[in-house]
Amino acid sequence: MLVSAKEMLTKAKAGHYAVAQININNLEWTKAVLTTAQALNAPVILGVSEGAGKYMGGFGTVAAMVRAMLEDLKITIPAALHLDHGSYEGCLACIAAGFSSAMFDGSHYPIAENIAKTKELAALTAEKGLSLEAEVGSIGGEEDGVIGAGEVADPRECKAIADLGVTMLAAGIGNIHGKYPENWAGLRFDVLDAIQQLTGEMPLVLHGGTGIPAAMIQQAISLGVSKINVNTECQLSFAAATRAYIEAGKDLMGKGFDPRKLLGPGYNAIQNTVKEKLELFGSVGKA
Ligand code: 13P
Repeated sequence: MLVSAKEMLTKAKAGHYAVAQININNLEWTKAVLTTAQALNAPVILGVSEGAGKYMGGFGTVAAMVRAMLEDLKITIPAALHLDHGSYEGCLACIAAGFSSAMFDGSHYPIAENIAKTKELAALTAEKGLSLEAEVGSIGGEEDGVIGAGEVADPRECKAIADLGVTMLAAGIGNIHGKYPENWAGLRFDVLDAIQQLTGEMPLVLHGGTGIPAAMIQQAISLGVSKINVNTECQLSFAAATRAYIEAGKDLMGKGFDPRKLLGPGYNAIQNTVKEKLELFGSVGKA
């Protein structure tokens, strides 16, 4: 069932768990995420970056694929289709294409401009019954061409953005997209705590979910994080499984070159990664 992310995140915040946003790249990815969430009775958010949307043919193609797959596979868990790190124009385009949720990443603008643009989009999405994620303090590293400096958010700016009527708020707290470096200093729980104190019931979003140790994930959830984004980890497990298949020469045996066989191990690897995340984030059985 395609829904906005609002209700699932309100429930997650109240129930002290987090909903997973898993980014998708193609049909196999989408199917692996949806079937796993359905099997575990967990709500889920399908994340689509602007780059991934383009790769799949456009937002219209993605929205049509997801809506049809939900129906054909009889997926009954709440699933949101969400633009990840959208530009202002990207938000308008994905809404027109039928997404149920969007993130406006205005973190690279001066705060006054971030507020002005977020406010407009908050009004638009509220009117259409869609959810909106805003961002304060850029997330470090690169997410599909969107490069963040890795700032730590100012809690007062977070409060100003939270008050605009957004559904969820992403704040930079030392998190990074992609793999964490050996010398990573860890998450700034003091800042997360200060943000939660000021923003109250607002569900907070933790980006860069790949490679954050379980204890840190649990502490972040206890401090108000209700949505955690994972992208790279599925890419890594997909690539490793595909590599093993080819290195074992299986594509050369019988009909092993058939894409439905060749992509099978990677598909199963994504399912396993998603299962691990849903269990770690505490959302199993919460659909
Ligand atoms: P990772 O690629 O580090 O898991 O981050 C995903 C993300 O935050 C998407 O917005």
